Amino acid sequence: MRHLMSPLDFSVEELDKLMDIAEDIEKNRDKYSHICDGKILATCFYEPSTRTRLSFESAMLHLGGQVLGFASADSSSAAKGESVSDTIRVISCFADICAMRHPKEGAPMVAASKSSIPVINAGDGGHQHPTQTLTDLMTIRSLKGSIKNMTIGLCGDLKFGRTVHSLINALKRYEGINFVFISPEELRIPDYIRSDVLDKNNIPYKEVIKLEDVMPELDILYMTRVQRERFFNEEDYVRLKDFYILTKEKMELAKKDMMVLHPLPRVNEISVEVDDDPRAVYFKQVQYGMYIRMALILTLLELV
Ligand code: NCD
Repeated sequence: MRHLMSPLDFSVEELDKLMDIAEDIEKNRDKYSHICDGKILATCFYEPSTRTRLSFESAMLHLGGQVLGFASADSSSAAKGESVSDTIRVISCFADICAMRHPKEGAPMVAASKSSIPVINAGDGGHQHPTQTLTDLMTIRSLKGSIKNMTIGLCGDLKFGRTVHSLINALKRYEGINFVFISPEELRIPDYIRSDVLDKNNIPYKEVIKLEDVMPELDILYMTRVQRERFFNEEDYVRLKDFYILTKEKMELAKKDMMVLHPLPRVNEISVEVDDDPRAVYFKQVQYGMYIRMALILTLLELV
């Protein structure tokens, strides 16, 4: 039995296969519409979510399966003090596969160690968010044709943003990737990413504060929200929340085929006027997220 805790749990070849399945699902929806008949997905979300939870649920429903679960810690027995280990043992009796989001780093991993069904990490604190990364990789591969030889700018909250941490980890295995990290001083990428992921693998990168300065060199711009819930005080959040706002004017500095991705939710960091630019692909990205989750469910349930 396999779980998904980090994008590195799959080899590059396995990720390619997963994306091939997702592409086939996109083209032949009918072929997959009953493949999970009789199967149940549990979504155990101890932290707020719109996209990820509904995307998992929609993925399972499109495969013919059914879903159950909870959308907040308050509405589960966690509020009575139940441990994640006990909860997953219980869920294992009710469902065939579980997607779990938790504010504590490592909680889905603890659950996986006690589980008799596959567990998918749907985001653990500021640590990892592997299914968002699968979504991001699929978006890049589908719209750019491949995942290699490109300059990828990541902008915003690079300190707390788990989607950023997972994506850097996954992209380090692809050829010719060059990173530009754009953040205020206080929200720079964590040291462990700089030393254990980038320096160790000789990945070229630079860190800058001003988005305008690097806009012309980017092939992908990955915007992120300042992660309010991970700040220790509201004052710092208020000071930093509008540090970056991507506008039409800034988009004029970019390559004609640059693409803007965002894991969403957006707050103020991308002005709504940018939404009509064909290079803004963050809503398309949501659609790819459902296909790749369908492919992941099928793979972990060993139905493909
Ligand atoms: C992200 C998350 O939860 O980390 N959202 C998502 O799942 N698409 C990004 C965020 O909350 O900023």
